[in-house]
Amino acid sequence: MIKKQKILHILGARPQFIKLAPLHKVLHNNFKQFILHTGQHYDPKMSGQFFDELNLPKPDFNLEVSGGGHAHQTGRMLMALEPILKQHPPHIVIVYGDTNSTLAGALAASKLNIPIIHVEAGLRSYDWKMPEEQNRVLTDRVSQILMCPTEQAVTNLQKEGIREGVYISGDLMMDTIRQYTDSNKLEQSLKKLKKEIPNFNFTDDFFFLTLHRPSNVDNPEMLSGIINSLKDSSKPILFPVHPRTKKNLIQFSINIPKTVTLVEPLSYQALLTAVKKSKKVITDSGGLQKEACFLGVPCITLRDTTEWVETVNIGVNQLALKDANKIDQRYFLQLLNDNVSCFDGPSINPYGNGTSAKFICDVLLKEFKT
Ligand code: UD1
Repeated sequence: MIKKQKILHILGARPQFIKLAPLHKVLHNNFKQFILHTGQHYDPKMSGQFFDELNLPKPDFNLEVSGGGHAHQTGRMLMALEPILKQHPPHIVIVYGDTNSTLAGALAASKLNIPIIHVEAGLRSYDWKMPEEQNRVLTDRVSQILMCPTEQAVTNLQKEGIREGVYISGDLMMDTIRQYTDSNKLEQSLKKLKKEIPNFNFTDDFFFLTLHRPSNVDNPEMLSGIINSLKDSSKPILFPVHPRTKKNLIQFSINIPKTVTLVEPLSYQALLTAVKKSKKVITDSGGLQKEACFLGVPCITLRDTTEWVETVNIGVNQLALKDANKIDQRYFLQLLNDNVSCFDGPSINPYGNGTSAKFICDVLLKEFKT
């Protein structure tokens, strides 16, 4: 009998669980898979709930490394990864996106000469101050197979001299989102949401907000500037709060305007449902910019750059900051209260047609014949 090649998925943050789900399913028949959770996201609402909801098996390893500065967090992950990679050597390591878990996984595997597949390779915001930009560039540099979601990502890699092992795979998030957005699922989930958040009126028009980037939430002036602007919003705002943001809202004693309803982080299904029902998304998340685009909801991104340039180019996403450290409240409010309607979703989806997992599996079968 032919022995299946061993794949180790290394990941630790909420958006990565969403990308793992469709790929794990498709790889099941041809590979022996293991999941290593770094522990970066550990709250049940940021982690466990996603594994259950996305039907992912429990991680085989959990490093339980969370919090701390970026170098500290990445360093602790690296130290914890090496003995596991040595004791249970996989044939292939797969890392996702641009978090500290991505970089730690890639570096640890690279030091042991284990082939690395980087899913979501080639993205660039060209803002080197972003920890994610550093993680992206460094991870791409040590990866052998680079799965790019878009043509732009391939071009970005070419500019850096990376041409080998580069594929356009489309975006795994598109594979996942399609499974959770049929009208029946959305309808059932809306009923549940209404029960779970009885103090918010889902029937009236509303906006949907998320914030977690250190540049927005770790600086008291920036965070209070954003939150204070929201008091003049023309519609109520639903705001699921990331733990980092919650901590800072309390620490900086920021008053929450009446227009804003704070809630705990939502499940994946609930998030998609709330976004679909909203009139506008305001966010600094990368994934949410794409989800809004796919769901036909206009997006305002609270950043001065984005790695998801296609959403801006097709006119469904607007950058609200001209300077990452300052908020021009008038400009932000103008974008917020500007009357733009939802759309049917972009006619050409820039992030693929939901077959990314199959594509990646085919490449792995070709490159790593058993
Ligand atoms: C990380 C990623 C970011 C990604 C985001 C998704 C990096 C550099 N950043 O940012 O790219 O968009 O995940 O959400 O890797 N915390 C909790 N409970 C949790 C998770 C975090 O309390 O379950 C706290 C941590 O202790 C820490 C803070 O929130 O104090 C930030 O968490 P961290 O994982 O360092 O980064 P994120 O801001 O979530």
